[in-house]
Amino acid sequence: MANVTIKNLGVTIAAQPGQSLLNSLLYEDVPIHTVCGGRARCGCCRVRLIDGQKGVSPVNKYETVRLSEHVIEQGWRLACQVHILRDITIYLPTADELDRDCSKKNS
Ligand code: FES
Repeated sequence: MANVTIKNLGVTIAAQPGQSLLNSLLYEDVPIHTVCGGRARCGCCRVRLIDGQKGVSPVNKYETVRLSEHVIEQGWRLACQVHILRDITIYLPTADELDRDCSKKNS
């Protein structure tokens, strides 16, 4: 198992290595947003990697399309496209920090 610490919530969950970060968070009832259901279309699942950049899969082409290069350089990733390899620490945006459309469906 790998630990995923959500720093701004003060929560750590155990995740199955290889599982998507989105599914790991949803499984543990962490309030992450998704409108597209994990298809890299809505951008609502974005999280910022604070620590453990090498503990996740590399940025893929879907993230490059959805997030700008500048945003990716700041550590932002799409949780639905990130696969956990080792312990990581993330920042999970609140609903106020996301696009208004992200609040329409809250998983
Ligand atoms: S869940 Fe929509 S982009 Fe990740």
